[in-house]
Amino acid sequence: MRYAVTGAAGFVGSHLADGLEAAGHEVVAIDCFTDYYDPALKDENARGREVHRLDLADAELDFAGLDGVFHLAGQPGVRSFGDVFPLYVRRNLVASQRVFEAAAAVGIRVVFASSSSVYGDAEAYPTPETSELRPLAPYGITKLGCEHLARAYGRDFGLDAIVLRYFTVYGPRQRPDMFFARVVKALAEGGSFEIYGDGTQSRSFTYVADVVAATIAAMERAPAGGLYNVGGGEEASMREAIATLERLAGRSLDVSYGPRAAGDIPRTRADTSRIRAELGWEPLTSLEEGLRAHWDWARARLAAR
Ligand code: UGA
Repeated sequence: MRYAVTGAAGFVGSHLADGLEAAGHEVVAIDCFTDYYDPALKDENARGREVHRLDLADAELDFAGLDGVFHLAGQPGVRSFGDVFPLYVRRNLVASQRVFEAAAAVGIRVVFASSSSVYGDAEAYPTPETSELRPLAPYGITKLGCEHLARAYGRDFGLDAIVLRYFTVYGPRQRPDMFFARVVKALAEGGSFEIYGDGTQSRSFTYVADVVAATIAAMERAPAGGLYNVGGGEEASMREAIATLERLAGRSLDVSYGPRAAGDIPRTRADTSRIRAELGWEPLTSLEEGLRAHWDWARARLAAR
């Protein structure tokens, strides 16, 4: 098959492009190399793959000749209040609306990467897809807006969109602003680490290879209109996660505690029964195994510098 991957030079997108190519598919890689974090890291992620530098919010999009689009590009990061909001509107809502139009025009499936952030302070744990949606950060609000756009394009323009709600993805190449990336960097290079809040907030951390498997399964075999949580099996608090990494690294981390981040969610825990039943997917990587892979990758990368 010939698939487009948007956000192909990002953390999850670059792993997805690798996974698709390893399975024998052709990948049309798209990314606009925003400067939300150092674009040199995106060059590193792309590792020589040709990436079309397109800004989805205003480039002409023609998906003719493709069998599907994996739409992972977006403005990430739940800390999204203030002057940065227009970036979230442009890179999530405007970009996705244009991807959905272009995919509907040629009748191909879109797998859209949404977020656990759409649940906000969830009404139930584990959280099923049917829970009330009440995002607490502008980021999650724009992701939820994209989900609604996908549905509206489905109803009136025949768009075949599958929505995946990823839960805090981690592993090699994780975005440098994210929790594990920062903890691993501080452990490897020395230096202190600030926890936003008291560290009791917890997440259904999801290993990136498991996310790639769910994403490809969604393109290949999800029924039309499918919407799924993609979450790891184990929930851990930030304090527990740091303890695991300290053990793997054989070092202790100099931790300080700062104010809770605005829009931060106290807890996520994915109910993955729907994706298990309909796509036969389940997370295969334990937090310990995943963190070991993340740590080994970070150490090898530092050693190679
Ligand atoms: C992550 C991603 O950043 C979002 O893009 C994604 O949409 C979301 O997962 C998701 O599940 O959909 P988050 O769960 O907040 O958001 O992940 P991290 O950025 O890794 O933060 C995890 C926790 O660590 C948060 O409570 C955060 O406040 C905390 N944190 C983060 C710190 O205490 N210190 C830091 O330096 C960074």
